[in-house]
Amino acid sequence: MAAVTEQTDNPTRLWGGRFAGSPAEALARLSVSVQFDWRLAPYDLAASRAHARVLAGAGLLDADELGRMLAALDDLEAACASGSFRPTVDDEDVHTALERGLLERLGALGGKLRAGRSRNDQVATDLRLYLRDHARGVAGRLVELADALTEQAARHVDTPAPGMTHLQHAQPVTFGHQLLAHVQPLLRDLDRLRDWDRRCAVSPLGAGALAGSSLPLDPIRVAKELGFEAAAPNSMDAVADRDFVAEFLFVTALIGVHLSRLGEELVLWTTQEFGWVELDDAFATGSSIMPQKKNADIAELARGKAGRLIGGLVTVLTMLKGLPLSYDRDMQEDKEPAFDAVDTLELVLPALAGMVSTMTVRVDRLAAAAPRGYTLATEIADWLVRRGVPFRDAHEITGQLVALCVARDCALDELTDGDLLAVSPALTPEVRDVLSVRSALAARTTPGSTGPGPVADQLAAAGDRLVAWREWASERVVPR
Ligand code: ARG
Repeated sequence: MAAVTEQTDNPTRLWGGRFAGSPAEALARLSVSVQFDWRLAPYDLAASRAHARVLAGAGLLDADELGRMLAALDDLEAACASGSFRPTVDDEDVHTALERGLLERLGALGGKLRAGRSRNDQVATDLRLYLRDHARGVAGRLVELADALTEQAARHVDTPAPGMTHLQHAQPVTFGHQLLAHVQPLLRDLDRLRDWDRRCAVSPLGAGALAGSSLPLDPIRVAKELGFEAAAPNSMDAVADRDFVAEFLFVTALIGVHLSRLGEELVLWTTQEFGWVELDDAFATGSSIMPQKKNADIAELARGKAGRLIGGLVTVLTMLKGLPLSYDRDMQEDKEPAFDAVDTLELVLPALAGMVSTMTVRVDRLAAAAPRGYTLATEIADWLVRRGVPFRDAHEITGQLVALCVARDCALDELTDGDLLAVSPALTPEVRDVLSVRSALAARTTPGSTGPGPVADQLAAAGDRLVAWREWASERVVPR
């Protein structure tokens, strides 16, 4: 919660002319949003500067008034940043608080800025600016996690590991491939953020409460000044639309799901049973009672936070469902889930990145586990196929081999030439050539497969894309 200071004697209110009395305490307590929307202040101030210039362009502020207005806005921004100006409990929301700040600095002139503008178009503008700005912050943290994963992957381009389906050993893979399989969803998430950002780059300012303005405003100029691509084509939609919040929350929920899947794998990998990964002390936690414990709490929290990210999306979709046009106060409920999604990811992503980049991969354990569970059975079936055996029969023959091994509790390469021939005359001793993890991996040369060659290609391509994403993440959205 923003630091809210004590009550003032004569609260600033953006409405009240037609009201004989003050709002009831219970109403004021319910409707106040400044404790969470105060973080929109820098964006509200940026929008105010643009609006002031447009008012001047329309002849509604003279040059001197514009100069004083912009200076006061700058001063107020500095005061907000330093904390010398803070919202009070009587400021209903960020817009009210900042108007009070302006009135304190300019007297009556401060009251001119509200012309042609409503909190409805203001809040929609501010939230778009905030989310566009913070989407880049989240993208930067995503890139850091993807970097950590690709750096580990680079060390394990040819480290064999047991690839799994149904959490059962399936076929050997390279561990680098598996790590990169967690990078690909993050690259898609980055794509989704930028794609969302294009649709979000529409400015509601100028819509007023819902109908536009009778004053000669310039929504296109304001849009440009605030870094938007266009001005909203429909003033009612401009103040009613929260697609950009819902879509943003879908992207963050999906990121949460991706992190939870990575988290779950890290939890498994660090168990005694797997023992694939050893965590750095700085990124593991202990137990208050069991001195030997080293827990993967970061991975568990990453897994757990997915719930609140998904919850945020559901909150906003449910809030919007069935709302009549245009603005309804229900929409004030859009902000906390959006802010929480940003805060959550800004917490989780650096911790996960640190955990991944400092973990030690146990190559010996992975290599030993790779052939376990008859993961080379498919190699035999494919070898038979290359010799002209229909896959249906090859599958059957190999299945019988596996059954024999299970009965004898031995590995596939422990069967004798006689055992092989007894199952099928097609199983000549040359089949042994494919019964090694190395050869199984080396044979996988098609694009996107797990062989060291294609994994090296994948690594290079992911690295190139991450360089480009780092650039996007460092863009500034809101010009001064
Ligand atoms: N705090 C409000 C919100 O977040 C600002 C808009 C208020 N508009 C209104 N017509 N009461 O939605």
